[in-house]
Amino acid sequence: MKKQLLSAILAVGCLASAGAAVNKLVVEPNAKGAPIPSTMYGLFFEDINYAADGGLYAEKIKNRSFDFPTPLQGWNAFGKVEVRNDGPFDKNPNYVRLSPAGHTDKWTGLDNEGFFGVSFEKDKDYNFSVWARVPDGGTSKVRVELEDPATMGEGQDKCSKEFEVKGSEWKQYKVTLKPSETVVKGKLRIFLCKPETTVDLEHVSLFPADTWKGRENGLRADLVQKLAALKPGVFRFPGGCIVEGTDMDTRYQWKNTVGPVENRPVNENRWHYTFRHRFFPDYFQSYGLGFYEYFLLSEDIGAEPLPILNVGLVCQFQNHDESAHAQLDELQPFIDDVLDLIEFANGPVDSKWGKLRAEMGHPEPFNLKYVGIGNEQWGPEYPARLEPFVKAVRAKYPDIKIVGSSGPDSEGEQFEFLWPEMKRIKADLVDEHFYRPESWFLAQGNRYDNYDRKGPKVFAGEYACHGKGKKYNHFNASLLEAAFMTGLERNADIVEMATYAPLFAHVEGWQWRPDMIWYDNLRSMPTASYYVQQLFSLNKGSQVVPLKMDGKPVAGNEGQNGLFASAVKEDPSGDLIIKVANTGDEAQELQIDFKGLKKNQNYSNVTMTTLHADNDAENTLDNQEIVKPKTQTFTDKDIKDMNVTLPAKTFAVYRFSK
Ligand code: AHR
Repeated sequence: MKKQLLSAILAVGCLASAGAAVNKLVVEPNAKGAPIPSTMYGLFFEDINYAADGGLYAEKIKNRSFDFPTPLQGWNAFGKVEVRNDGPFDKNPNYVRLSPAGHTDKWTGLDNEGFFGVSFEKDKDYNFSVWARVPDGGTSKVRVELEDPATMGEGQDKCSKEFEVKGSEWKQYKVTLKPSETVVKGKLRIFLCKPETTVDLEHVSLFPADTWKGRENGLRADLVQKLAALKPGVFRFPGGCIVEGTDMDTRYQWKNTVGPVENRPVNENRWHYTFRHRFFPDYFQSYGLGFYEYFLLSEDIGAEPLPILNVGLVCQFQNHDESAHAQLDELQPFIDDVLDLIEFANGPVDSKWGKLRAEMGHPEPFNLKYVGIGNEQWGPEYPARLEPFVKAVRAKYPDIKIVGSSGPDSEGEQFEFLWPEMKRIKADLVDEHFYRPESWFLAQGNRYDNYDRKGPKVFAGEYACHGKGKKYNHFNASLLEAAFMTGLERNADIVEMATYAPLFAHVEGWQWRPDMIWYDNLRSMPTASYYVQQLFSLNKGSQVVPLKMDGKPVAGNEGQNGLFASAVKEDPSGDLIIKVANTGDEAQELQIDFKGLKKNQNYSNVTMTTLHADNDAENTLDNQEIVKPKTQTFTDKDIKDMNVTLPAKTFAVYRFSK
């Protein structure tokens, strides 16, 4: 490297200091390595931590259709309110009847508490809608208000509208509300303003107008933007354990999540009771965010959709009753669910399920390529069930790739049993899960170096470093994730996809942490782990390039000074990208030699992005700048190697371009 670049690096304090032991990394930019799959870095989505209802799904009303098992949960009724169950939507039959309260000075109506409050922002538009009728015919009037409980005593709503309800037929009524103030923990009130008439109400809904792409039944724009900014290669949905259910009735059934939103039946969310110390009895799945919306989102953010379907097993952690599972001769409806889903995603518009997709607004196929069958299953009962699914999918859709599971553990008895079983069954990929401590991540840098290249590919489908005694996404855990991910990248010939998990968490409603993106009702924040994922994804490259230290992969092995590294080349730019994590407590001198680079191939720019913070540092909603990548660019005419000091506890991405 020329003097000019050296002095630029010196200026920012990164020059190798004289005399220190040097780690010599040899990179071969011209050597041919494995192509990096486009799916390599992706997203795992599950409705845990209020990720869907109360999170990504922008609906602000909880229990909007009164179909929670306790029909008025989330609502506070006043006057004369009766729950009835012969409504217009057969899968969500409940609705409320608001009748005169008995005196013209008395009021009948309901308040909705929302998800940790109904939040709204000053001068923004909110689309309110409700299905309503006057059961006796004639006309009535209803008033809807956005309220701030803190100031309600002053008799001031923050915004209100009245509208007429006409006739005894169910119709949808819509009004737009524009609040005069921002309220974080507000509520929505709806009541009869002609107290002498009875009105029926069903499916009470409130969405911000500025959802992602302004869609009705839309998603929170700030959250989707954060997903899109990751440029994910794959989007896995809808979980996770919710695929399985605690029992068969409560498993995730995709067919219940498509078609008109009013008629998607409410399902329980098993995360509401999974952890007693984080018990949320009001956590249900409205399915407003359903499979159509998941496919659309995958398309929007450029990710391959990867739906996971139930294999005929309920959650084996949660339910120990053998008879709760579907027996081998009862699997056909489950197999049909998979085949029908492929038709829903890819089938022609004159096929049964392709037609529904077209009616919902997407005549073009979604081009589904992968399905996962079973989430985190184990024992001989899993392969026994998976086999007939594989047979049926191969027979009808030979191009669809099937993802099987290696169970909940990253090693051990089940893992050892299931991998050979997945090979025998010829799954295309095997989903591995590892929520593990720092020591595990430090020891697993070369996990995939010796995997069998002839069997299924790896899908690292759920992983995160769970720092011992730590609560959130502190920096050191994310640094170790980065270190580990260099091993995924070096092994791109066997690792086809990897997704950190879980993705989302509401700061008031979480059950599981750490998570990649946190939010409250109005704000959201990337964590250190988010930035690690982003640095890999945006610097994914097209092909692995050999990078060695003392002739060995840089995987934190003994004598490698806590360093982990990988290198890729990007097409068509020709950029060389080197990622190095220094997990140790000492700065490390790196000498990066480009082997086999011809004279006219030298680089002239290096962009150096680093992620560094105190071990325990973490971003918060109020301070999102604590852990954030920093980028510097240096220019020189003739870069053919580089000497640089990598500070202790730092992840660095060096991008060399011509
Ligand atoms: O990500 C949280 C849970 O961890 C998933 O639902 C499950 O697959 C795993 O046990």
